Amino acid sequence: MGMFNTFRSVVQFREFERSPVKRRLSGIADVDDFRAVAKRRLPAGVFDYIDGGAEDERSLVRNVTAFGDLEFRPRILNDVSRVDTSTTLLGKRVPMPLALSPTGFTRIANSQGELAVARAAQRKGIPYSLSTMGTRSIEDVAAVCSGTKWYQVYTWKDRGLVKEMVSRAEMSGYEALLLTVDTAVLGRRERDVRRGYTLPPKIGLDTIIDGAVHPGWTLDFLRNDPITFANVSSAEGGDGSSAVNLSQYINSQFDQALSWDDVDWLRSIWNGPVVLKGIQTVADAELAAQSGVEGIMLSNHGGRQLDDAPAIVELIAPVAQAVGGRIDIICDGGVRRGSDIVKAVSLGATACSIGRPYLYALGAAGEAGVDQLLDFFESGLTRTMQLCGVNAIDQLTSELVSWKR
Ligand code: FNR
Ligand code: LAC
Repeated sequence: MGMFNTFRSVVQFREFERSPVKRRLSGIADVDDFRAVAKRRLPAGVFDYIDGGAEDERSLVRNVTAFGDLEFRPRILNDVSRVDTSTTLLGKRVPMPLALSPTGFTRIANSQGELAVARAAQRKGIPYSLSTMGTRSIEDVAAVCSGTKWYQVYTWKDRGLVKEMVSRAEMSGYEALLLTVDTAVLGRRERDVRRGYTLPPKIGLDTIIDGAVHPGWTLDFLRNDPITFANVSSAEGGDGSSAVNLSQYINSQFDQALSWDDVDWLRSIWNGPVVLKGIQTVADAELAAQSGVEGIMLSNHGGRQLDDAPAIVELIAPVAQAVGGRIDIICDGGVRRGSDIVKAVSLGATACSIGRPYLYALGAAGEAGVDQLLDFFESGLTRTMQLCGVNAIDQLTSELVSWKR
């Protein structure tokens, strides 16, 4: 009898969760889990376009694993009953040092696409970046998100088109421009080469067979408006309403002649902050600071462009030593936990930015997935600060981390 009572006190049945999305989310604890669920739910070609990188994917992998080469030097017996994760980014107070990077074709992960991600960013108060290759328009994103928005610029040969996009971004209340400087041509993503992957995904026999295995995605895709490049509808290369091979499209439309003069040109048509996205050396960080931009994103495009580009977290300390305090430094690539944010900021980054993690979350569970992902980053940031004995962002200094020997 005594034993029976003891047993009863430990066995409690969890209430059955009726919402399938909540049920799915309850089993997800980290970014790898989101990735695994997205892999199960998305057509293989879509998943591989999001998940993959250039050539041998060594930069893709190193971006992530290099964070694991750092360890903390945690301090103890500091009052961590209250933690303030807020900081200043591009002159504005933000609740934590995290932003969302621009990703093209976000609607391939979920029909709501950019709208879902922008709404989730607004709820957390963090900046959302819309891509030139976005599948929701500058105006439509602004209509659902009054929070901080940045616009990412790809420089088309047709500068009239760029100018028009920049003025639309200004009219719609976007606060900063990210000029992507690592995509003169598209990197060779060999997973996509093998599949002959196009954007938007073509509905062919293979997609139909694949669709039978991924019914949730297929219904969502077929029931909603066709996926198009919502911001480049006047481009002569097409607006994406018919499927294109991404590298042919980009290599014919983007301007390979892009140079520092164009940074000045962008400055001349835009009043707000400019951030160069894709800086990968101390030398270019120096030039960026001299050029008068407000920030740089240390980024190798998530390992999707040049393979064997430097792991982003390894760039932070030398770049911060050269230009820290003069311009904001955003660490973009391989950030998978709140503890990674603590490491990056301790090394001298102003903030971090993430791409794939929110696409996995969107593909796994839609907008609710992105909400849960952002909670995961926020709680991980807070907990790691507490376990390291710090209670404010300005206490994150190089003394807190060291490279493992
Ligand atoms: C991107 N990225 C990107 N960058 C950009 O400037 N313009 C773009 O249109 C895109 N599109 C895009 C699509 C997809 C599917 C991915 C995964 C990435 C790069 C992105 O902004 C960011 O630099 C990386 O995603 C950061 O690395 P992590 O967080 O994915 O490791
Ligand atoms: C990519 C482009 C869209 O990384 O930037 O796929």
